Amino acid sequence: MKNKADVLLGLQWGDEGKGKVVDVLTPGYDIIARFQGGPNAGHSLEFNGIKHVLHTIPSGIFHEGKMNVVGNGVVIDPITLKKEIDALIKMGVPVSERMLISRKAHLILPTHRILDAASEAAKGKHKIGSTLKGIGPTYMDKTGRNGLRVGDIETPDFKEKYEFLKNKHAQLLNQMEYEYDLQSIEKEWFEGIDCLKSIPFCDSEHYLNKALEEGKKILAEGAQGTLLDIDFGSYPFVTSSNTVTAGACTGLGLPPTAIGRVFGIFKAYCTRVGSGPFPTELENETGEKLRAIGKEFGATTGRPRRTGWLDIPALKYACMINGVTHLIMMKSDVLSDFDEISVADFYEYNGEKIDFLPFDVLSDSLKPVYSKVKGWNKDVTGIRTKEEIPTELETYIASVEEKTGLPVSIVSLGPDRVQTIHRKNIFD
Ligand code: GDP
Ligand code: IMO
Ligand code: MG
Repeated sequence: MKNKADVLLGLQWGDEGKGKVVDVLTPGYDIIARFQGGPNAGHSLEFNGIKHVLHTIPSGIFHEGKMNVVGNGVVIDPITLKKEIDALIKMGVPVSERMLISRKAHLILPTHRILDAASEAAKGKHKIGSTLKGIGPTYMDKTGRNGLRVGDIETPDFKEKYEFLKNKHAQLLNQMEYEYDLQSIEKEWFEGIDCLKSIPFCDSEHYLNKALEEGKKILAEGAQGTLLDIDFGSYPFVTSSNTVTAGACTGLGLPPTAIGRVFGIFKAYCTRVGSGPFPTELENETGEKLRAIGKEFGATTGRPRRTGWLDIPALKYACMINGVTHLIMMKSDVLSDFDEISVADFYEYNGEKIDFLPFDVLSDSLKPVYSKVKGWNKDVTGIRTKEEIPTELETYIASVEEKTGLPVSIVSLGPDRVQTIHRKNIFD
């Protein structure tokens, strides 16, 4: 194999800024490939004063001459995808020339979305806080071997396969005594299927392995974050896919030996949307201040994000699971207004000092222990070179490097493409 694929993924609970950085790094790659998740993701990127939010389409789509692959590990809702495609075409982006969809990617049916809502309603106060995009039920059908895949659209009995699965779902919904209306959404779904057919389908595992053989450069784009991973996240408050580096292998058909650099993205603080444990959460004025300055509202659902200080034990755990080679620190500018910044260095758990997340993450006896650093108290959004980084911010970054043993190669100081400082060479 001539080349290896690099992977870019979130190290926290999602929304770290993956979309922005993929867009920034795309000029250095030939192919951008999404490997898991679906329209639960909302990846924002900003240039020329305009903000774009992508849900299923990889974040390299705005660059001419680059191919964007939706891999087999992704779940696709034709309705959401059509909306995304239509919006891009309206802006003059030739989507069908720049995008391929794996035949093995699974389809989200309207009844998957309804099942998601029914399941959350049944959980009551124990709900996951799902984005209600049908992600869980679709992955359940995948692993239960009932799912419908993109390649099925090309088969003559696609409609029957659809009806069969829909009826199975209807039985489940009846058992749950959940009322729903399918008619209008079903029509929209089939319009979405027609739109999906305008994008070339591919066998992405062959396409991507061949591309590496030919010396092409691939960047795999993760969705969600490590702490939402189905195996290693704060289960059961997680999503239903493997969001970690290993997910790039299963979600694209790349062997582990074909993985090169692993870019781990984290915010200079923490956020989480939806339910579940969040050890460093700030349910006070400081948390509200972080949310207001960081504009911490979900890109997919608009829900306010929960906010808190940077959690080093959780970050170190994510670096270990993913084999991170380079760190990328986002939203440092949001901390500019704080005189003092706290960082959780370890936890106290049942009277002991630990530096890892215990099995029972919901335990009341888990207490983060903080150290405090001085803030930089100046606007950093106009900074364009690493030499301009204020000393206190540089100290903050260096302390993360020391605690994780990894280089912080990129520092992001605002949502726009240009607000990105290459502190160390990412391709070293
Ligand atoms: P993703 O899901 O990881 O792609 O992240 P989201 O797009 O959901 O959330 C990140 C949000 O932060 C978006 O609104 C971005 O425009 C914004 N953003 C990204 N990087 C920065 C940064 O360095 N500073 C600030 N202030 N905002 C940023
Ligand atoms: P990006 O790619 C942040 C969260 C939901 C919920 C849990 C399960 O933009 O970082 P699901 O709909 O997957 O069943 O929801 O996971 N969640 C995200 N949080 N960013 C995301 O994606 C998310 N995708 C799912 O809020 O807590
Ligand atoms: Mg997001």
